[in-house]
Amino acid sequence: MVSKAWLSGLFEAEFGSLPLVFQSPGRINLIGEHTDYNGGWVMPAGIDKACSLAILPLKEGPTTVWAYDLLDKISANTFPEAATDSHWSNYIFGVCLAFSRRGVKLPHFQAIVSSDIPVGAGLSSSAALESVFAFAFNEISGAGFDSMELTRIAREAENEFVGLQCGIMDMFASIHARQDHAIRLDCRSLAYEYVPLAMGGNKILLFDTCLKHDLASSEYNLRRQECEKVVHHFQGLGIEAQTLRDITLPQLLEAAPDLDPVSFNRARFVLEENERVEVFAEAMQTGNWALAGEQLYASHAGLKNDYNVSCRELDFLVDAVRGQPGVWGGRMMGGGFGGCTINIVAASAVDDLVQKVASAYLNVFGVEPKHYIASTGDGACML
Ligand code: GLA
Repeated sequence: MVSKAWLSGLFEAEFGSLPLVFQSPGRINLIGEHTDYNGGWVMPAGIDKACSLAILPLKEGPTTVWAYDLLDKISANTFPEAATDSHWSNYIFGVCLAFSRRGVKLPHFQAIVSSDIPVGAGLSSSAALESVFAFAFNEISGAGFDSMELTRIAREAENEFVGLQCGIMDMFASIHARQDHAIRLDCRSLAYEYVPLAMGGNKILLFDTCLKHDLASSEYNLRRQECEKVVHHFQGLGIEAQTLRDITLPQLLEAAPDLDPVSFNRARFVLEENERVEVFAEAMQTGNWALAGEQLYASHAGLKNDYNVSCRELDFLVDAVRGQPGVWGGRMMGGGFGGCTINIVAASAVDDLVQKVASAYLNVFGVEPKHYIASTGDGACML
């Protein structure tokens, strides 16, 4: 993470005054994939990599934002109300619009953003960007929104301005994360609890495929529609379901003959994944790593075979760790079609495993995968 002193120094050299400095982290997700928009359970944690923001409100315009890592700067006299192509400033102006829709008139501002969250690795660098601006705007405007409303604001920016129909998990984690804890979040009620991450001599190891297939966002939105279609089916039977969370496995099995196989598989995956979150959380808290690891492998199998959001590279990385010394389990993490796998591995086995997996992946795909040992971090804050 960049230091407050460094970012403040950079800001002062550029704009001549001292800023306020904020940061918001990226996230991992232990288990509970594609369940958030189905009203289910997720188990993310904030990481020790963050998006940092130096900002100073102004009495008059223009607003200037410098994306330090992209070597790019924008200046605007008004906050746009619609997205511009796929420009990075959409994430920021989307948050401005969400404030304005809530009746908050934001002041103009000068800002510098810098992040050490790898982009495109499935660690939610964009949710961290939206979250840090939501948090900072709340401070500089005195709007007084609570953390739940800031989460909604950040998600609204992504859904309605940027145009990705993601669920709530990433922004929720970025804003609410707590060091050394995962969050067990019920995405239907938004009730949550912090689960201590006592890893018992194990590490959370991520392997990064270093790719993102074009399919990622179109297939993501399609999965959402496929799940909604199953919910409509049950609504048609008179069952009061808002999301797949409101349907039980026995109900789904009973309806199987009337559902096409794809719909059935999607829904079964979601319902089983919700159950795995429960089992995983319990296993982790009692130090039953074998059982926790089994849930990871089962989650991957479901994501691959029933939900069809994996890809060759992710499957390869999961197969490559299976059965290796010290490995409890692994699976693809996040939306799919690229990004990282998440693995639980005995600390003493990490170095050998990284070497073995990296050279096997290089042989097949011609690229060395990156890897990260995930350390947890706190949620959005002012430094
Ligand atoms: C992406 C989305 C999240 C969630 C995951 C899959 O990260 O942004 O909302 O749906 O995919 O679990």
